[in-house]
Amino acid sequence: MNEEMQKLFNRLIEIEQVSTTLYLAMSAYMARENYTGMAHWLQLQSDEERTHLLKLIQYVSDKNGTVQLSNIPAQPSEYGTPLETFQKVLEHEQFVTNSYRQAYNYAVQVDPQAAVIIQDFLREQIDEEAQAQTIVDRLSLAQNNSSALLLLDQELGQRQAAG
Ligand SMILES: [Fe+2]
Ligand SMILES: [Fe+2]
Repeated sequence: MNEEMQKLFNRLIEIEQVSTTLYLAMSAYMARENYTGMAHWLQLQSDEERTHLLKLIQYVSDKNGTVQLSNIPAQPSEYGTPLETFQKVLEHEQFVTNSYRQAYNYAVQVDPQAAVIIQDFLREQIDEEAQAQTIVDRLSLAQNNSSALLLLDQELGQRQAAG
């Protein structure tokens, strides 16, 4: 892969590192706030981001590129209400989609194989954003009603590990 492509992949690797760490930090925060179901959901989301990270690293290695792992910034330890927390998830996923879109726009001109790989991630982002949006919408409906929040928490706690 050319240098620019390698740079873009390393940037995506960094973003997935941030994603997996961010969601783990959010999970710990939600657990602290006693929303154990949301903590569980976020932990599985963190695991999923790690599989994305590993997939990107695998591709760069397969292409004899150089993987450059960076020092990612420390993540906050507090995220506000469940609604605020999941709004941050949604915003982050939108940022991720945008980063994959930019990488795709370049790859599609110079490197069809890289474009195909990135396209898989871009397709996955449809789901990732939709899931986050649904949770945000349902948390908005629940408002500050604690029974509704606990019911939603229970529902999110049902999430099964992928695979
Ligand atoms: Fe991801
Ligand atoms: Fe994601």
